[in-house]
Amino acid sequence: MIDHRIIEEIKFRNNIEDVISSYVTLKRAGSNMNGLCPFHSEKTPSFTVFTSSQNFYCFGCGAGGDVITFIMRAENLEYPDAVEFLAKRVGIEIPRDNEPSSRGPSRSRIIDMNRDAARFFHTQLYSEAGRAGLDYLKNSRQLSDSVIKRFGLGFAPDSFGAITDHLRSKGYTEEEMLSGFMCGKSKKNGKLYDYFRGRVMFPIIDVAGNVIAFGGRVMDDSVPKYLNSSDTPAFKKSRNLFALNYAKNNAEDHIILCEGYMDVIALHAAGFSSAVATLGTAITSEQARIISKYTKKVIISYDSDAAGQRAADKAIKLLSEAGCEVKVLKMNGAKDPDEYIKKFGAEKFKDLLSGSRGRFDFKVDSVLAVHDITLPDEKIKASDELCKIAAEAYSEAEREVYIGRIAEVLSLPRDSIRADVRRQVSRRTRERKKNETRNAYLSGTGYGDRVNPDFVKNVHAARAEETVLGLLLSFEEHRKFFADGGFELSEDDLATELGKRIFTVLKEGIDATGAFDLSIFGDRFSVEEMGRITKMRVSREQLTVNDRSVLLDAVRVLKSESAAKSGSDDVSYDDLLSLINKKKKEN
Ligand code: GTP
Ligand code: MN
Repeated sequence: MIDHRIIEEIKFRNNIEDVISSYVTLKRAGSNMNGLCPFHSEKTPSFTVFTSSQNFYCFGCGAGGDVITFIMRAENLEYPDAVEFLAKRVGIEIPRDNEPSSRGPSRSRIIDMNRDAARFFHTQLYSEAGRAGLDYLKNSRQLSDSVIKRFGLGFAPDSFGAITDHLRSKGYTEEEMLSGFMCGKSKKNGKLYDYFRGRVMFPIIDVAGNVIAFGGRVMDDSVPKYLNSSDTPAFKKSRNLFALNYAKNNAEDHIILCEGYMDVIALHAAGFSSAVATLGTAITSEQARIISKYTKKVIISYDSDAAGQRAADKAIKLLSEAGCEVKVLKMNGAKDPDEYIKKFGAEKFKDLLSGSRGRFDFKVDSVLAVHDITLPDEKIKASDELCKIAAEAYSEAEREVYIGRIAEVLSLPRDSIRADVRRQVSRRTRERKKNETRNAYLSGTGYGDRVNPDFVKNVHAARAEETVLGLLLSFEEHRKFFADGGFELSEDDLATELGKRIFTVLKEGIDATGAFDLSIFGDRFSVEEMGRITKMRVSREQLTVNDRSVLLDAVRVLKSESAAKSGSDDVSYDDLLSLINKKKKEN
């Protein structure tokens, strides 16, 4: 654990507005700052930075906390690493105690180890042991030495101990190698064995230049074709993209999104240096948001087979939601961009890029591929599907363009298509309203609350609990009143598990003067819970009446509810569920 005074110093020097400004464009709004939330997709700003309390909170998605929580979310770091990140930012050295930490190897150790491993693999590729690997990359895949070097490609020898021996000689422990996905441990004899054997190696490098993981490919038809690092303390598949470290500097016009490492490398080698790929999985909404930070236009260049086109469908959806304009390449005569460039050359690929289809044309093609529109029934189905897609368009003008296209490809009158699209638009509006009402109702009751699942068990008490905690979190006078023994309250009186935990930490943190800093929560609560804690505080601060009588009333409710509790709380939970089900039926 890092000394609390050091954390406070780090927070003091990392002004939350300065830190967040390098991720989000903030505009002043009264005494606070507003911007578009970096943690969910939105068009109107609901992300707020509270200058005086040095907290942030998003009224849209509930993300919130202090500057450390922000960095945990934005940089995908665990608490101690986020503290270290901020310490580095302002040049503070965190004193290390000699005890090995109990929470396992740190991110920075794994990154050091990966860098050493990447050097080892690269050296191997150019040594006798790596001859087959170099032959594969240069002759079978036609990569030049400079491309091999640029991507730091390497070779893992066909041996069970080459990497482990090397890393051990560099001082890495068994635990570090295991948690960094460099090796496994035999159940039979407890010995370590290399995961990557006889494979050409693709280091995965993050935008800060750290080697965070590896992919390794076999050189023949054996399986698995690729072996990729699992998530480690330094790596999360769902939050990283291959070659984004290079592509981010060439993304002004567009980013090309591919499926495979080899596609990306071939594209970069041919001069298309804004290509990236996901890491052996379908694109996630996090990756879509990351991409949207660097570019406004994405050209999807997935494999031309059915699976690739299905994957493109999902990518279109996520990237559009993240605010990107999305185009899709149509490749004929080659299965992927790597093959296309080898067969037809870079110039032809460039033509493809400029002729890439928008989201709607892509849809038209896929709908026409499944429906034979010479048959009346099929034509109606095709029209139905296309009208639904046209109805999703944001603007009237865009919709008109689509209506024209549908009428044209199906040879149907424009007016009837327009009428169908209108019908779909009103259906969508109706559904959205219904959902909003339902969500408002459900969130009002705390139903489906994952951060505080107990909330729904006794909503009355849970609301009182949020009032008490919110007031104590926000106002020094109330904390002082509590510290002076103004009222009695124990953990047992709190209504939910989360509430009990918050109260416990709060009680420890309040000193006689009522001073208190939110950072004492940081290493004991998840980022989601930090959001909830901030919400309690922010919601109180938005109310006008926050005086002692409100506090004492809420304390009274908590006490009487906890006294009345005799295993009967499940009844009210069941009552609520049946109420919700009844409501659902009515809708
Ligand atoms: P080649 O050209 O055959 O080297 O591969 P590619 O770059 O065209 O990749 P492909 O389209 O076959 O696969 C796309 C991506 O999926 C690869 O870059 C890998 O990240 C991942 N992938 C492919 N095969 C496997 C596999 O067997 N296991 C795992 N975990 N991932 C794989
Ligand atoms: Mn390929």
